[in-house]
Amino acid sequence: MSKDEQYMKRALDIARFGLGNVSPNPMVGCVIVYEDNIIGEGWHKKFGGPHAEVYAVNNVEDKSLLHGSTIYINLEPCSYHGKTPACTDMLTKHKVKRVVISNRDPNPRVSGGGIQQLLKHKIKIKEGILWAEGRELNRRFFTNQEKERPYVILKWAQTADGFIAKENRDSKWISSDASRKIVHKWRAEEDAILVGRGTVQFDNPTLNVRDWEGNNPVRIVIDTGLKLDNSYLIFDQRIETIVYNYVKDQIQGNLIFRRINKDNFLEGMLNDLNEKGLGSIIVEGGAATLNNFIKAGLWDEARVFVSPDKFKKGIEAPKIIKDPESQEMIAEDKLYIYRFNATENGNTGE
Ligand SMILES: NC(=O)c1ccc[n+]([C@@H]2O[C@H](COP(=O)([O-])OP(=O)(O)OC[C@H]3O[C@@H](n4cnc5c(N)ncnc54)[C@H](OP(=O)(O)O)[C@@H]3O)[C@@H](O)[C@H]2O)c1
Repeated sequence: MSKDEQYMKRALDIARFGLGNVSPNPMVGCVIVYEDNIIGEGWHKKFGGPHAEVYAVNNVEDKSLLHGSTIYINLEPCSYHGKTPACTDMLTKHKVKRVVISNRDPNPRVSGGGIQQLLKHKIKIKEGILWAEGRELNRRFFTNQEKERPYVILKWAQTADGFIAKENRDSKWISSDASRKIVHKWRAEEDAILVGRGTVQFDNPTLNVRDWEGNNPVRIVIDTGLKLDNSYLIFDQRIETIVYNYVKDQIQGNLIFRRINKDNFLEGMLNDLNEKGLGSIIVEGGAATLNNFIKAGLWDEARVFVSPDKFKKGIEAPKIIKDPESQEMIAEDKLYIYRFNATENGNTGE
């Protein structure tokens, strides 16, 4: 690994601390290096808050050293005054020597403009360092910018013989305690969590973060004909909850009803979520809902726990017809991670 890659890796590592708090902004880390020593670093901590560069520059004790420093930042610095002032102005004011970037900002308000601003002030630029790692870290953000929809993660637990629930619809305790704890961590990392009407009826889930520390995602249920009555736990008003349906638009405190056209329902719903600034959703079932996302090709990642149990019959788990990108053991469960790649054929499931 070159020196540039080493410092960029540090920028990416600290950027990750923003996960769960900055969306729909990207996770950004900044490391300031003077004569091969890190003299300051910082990361974007909260949506709407100061950018990583601001924290890093404030972290430098002797500001006179900025003049001869290299700034490592995983995303091109912004060149416009949005919720916060332009970072390029700050970097040019301090006359930094060199700026090393992993990814260009795809936001049309920046997109190369930040680099141009810095070049105008004779600051040396190197871009594309750990480019793939930067894309991976900010895959939610790049999906939002490029596809104008939230990043979609499918998640389910199935038995070794391919069922997600028993014939009587009971799906409790398929996966281990350890797997369930990871799911709570995942919930805290995403902006929204979604289930279909059937899952609310049969499982009456809370869909909050319990076994992990972090923010509760916005709850979403698809109930096209508004058949669910308000006795279910997700209607307790404690967390913002959106009911996507064909019938009405209405706001009742923390409960929001959103009507979407029947044609291209999922696209319409994802478009609405994008407009609300929700950058990612984790879809936790049930089978019909997951299959709808798979059939429409509207997913980016699938996380599937396979327990050693066998039900012999029941509700069949969704199928993804492609090889998993990775697999690992979580206690007695196998966790498979799949990635959707639009350029491949035959990967959209049944
Ligand atoms: N093992 C696991 O990981 C896991 C996770 C969750 C649930 N489950 C189990 O799965 C079972 C429930 O699954 P399910 O397949 O019966 O129900 P479901 O997927 O939870 O809900 C299906 C309903 O959601 C609505 N819906 C979903 N996608 C839609 C779309 N694209 N367009 C229109 N409507 C859409 C429809 O509601 P309308 O009928 O109102 O139109 C549909 O009938 C339960 O037994 C539960 O325990 C297992």
